[in-house]
Amino acid sequence: MERLTSPPRLMIVSDLDHTMVDHHDPENLSLLRFNSLWEHAYRHDSFLVFSTGRSPTLYKELRKEKPLLTPDITIMSVGTEITYGNSMVPDHGWVDTLNNKWDLGIVKEEASKFSELKLQAETEQRPHKVSFYVDKSKAQEVTKELSQRFEKRGLDVKIIYSGGMDLDILPQGAGKGQALAYLLKKLKTEGKLPVNTLACGDSGNDAELFSIPDVYGVMVSNAQEELLKWHAENAKDNPKVIHAKERCAGGIIEAIGHFKLGPNLSPRDVSDFLECKTENVNPGHEVVKFFLFYERWRRGEVDNCDAYTASLKASCHPSGVFVHPSGAEKSLRDTIDELRKYYGDKQGKKFRVWADQVLATDTTPGTWIVKLDKWEQSGEERRCCTTTIKFTSKEGEGLVWEHVQQTWSKESEVKDDSTWII
Ligand code: GLC
Ligand code: MG
Repeated sequence: MERLTSPPRLMIVSDLDHTMVDHHDPENLSLLRFNSLWEHAYRHDSFLVFSTGRSPTLYKELRKEKPLLTPDITIMSVGTEITYGNSMVPDHGWVDTLNNKWDLGIVKEEASKFSELKLQAETEQRPHKVSFYVDKSKAQEVTKELSQRFEKRGLDVKIIYSGGMDLDILPQGAGKGQALAYLLKKLKTEGKLPVNTLACGDSGNDAELFSIPDVYGVMVSNAQEELLKWHAENAKDNPKVIHAKERCAGGIIEAIGHFKLGPNLSPRDVSDFLECKTENVNPGHEVVKFFLFYERWRRGEVDNCDAYTASLKASCHPSGVFVHPSGAEKSLRDTIDELRKYYGDKQGKKFRVWADQVLATDTTPGTWIVKLDKWEQSGEERRCCTTTIKFTSKEGEGLVWEHVQQTWSKESEVKDDSTWII
């Protein structure tokens, strides 16, 4: 959170399963659209928060399966675990507040008396979250009886039903909404209260997110019955909460537009983006657009015309160098020439490229250093390179690519690096 010295322009707090991630879309198109919008227009001055019911174990699994960006803050296990930054530093202060009138042993003991409750996987049982599966038809009745039993034993718990199947038991002070309220308070004391906050969700455990004051909310089009019911009963007249027309991440982009929270045109929705000029010179934009072009080039989705490569070459410094992750050095202009050979080579191969954590610094006037994680997916294989690019710009002229350096990131196990062009 130290990255920003002033309040973030936008903070998106989004659920993952069936909100940010569309499990019915094997191409992950809406997620990829969101990713390029975020990196293009928000990463540098905004916060991305993922708020999921998943434990850290299942959250990490999802990150391996889907092209998720790296959030600034991660809230897991239905608002019972908050962590910060890439290394996911836990918020111990939050955990301490959850011990009030909570006793894990008693919760497990009482719940075990209900034959309707089927315990979820061991990974999903956390210090402040006990989770079961229960049939839709039994959920209400079981919830009521459980609450009475806990009250008798002196506990103050919260029971949440989500996705028409999951039943979570948490301390009363926990939950996604309370975790968000805690986070907003903390940001406020640090002088970083976001200008706007947008909460995004699809199921029962997201309902609380939509009752935090001053927060915009979007229930994605595919929201679950239990969330829509909660909304009809509790938040129907709140103009700050909408039910989107679009599914999952498409609904998030729709809400950014609806509430006028900032740019809502994803670079992926622009077909001839080399033509799309931005008003201010911004190397972060340049990078997102370049890698999108690179994906489309290798998928054979842009015209195979020399004008593209010629314009790219023109924006590279004549003596600019590209350091390949293998360590080999080449001229930047030669690298662009080489790219011509690869037109369409990834057609039909589920090839996708996305940039994560694109951050630009301009320590010397006229010079920019952009750092990012560049991901490439081809079929089932995925690789990531930490990429550093140096740009220069002269008054009235465009950006010049001076130097590009890539190193394999820790997660990439590379056996053959010959198909990695840039
Ligand atoms: C995630 C968690 C599960 C929880 C559900 C609803 O699927 O893995 O434990 O019950 O979210 O909150
Ligand atoms: Mg969900």
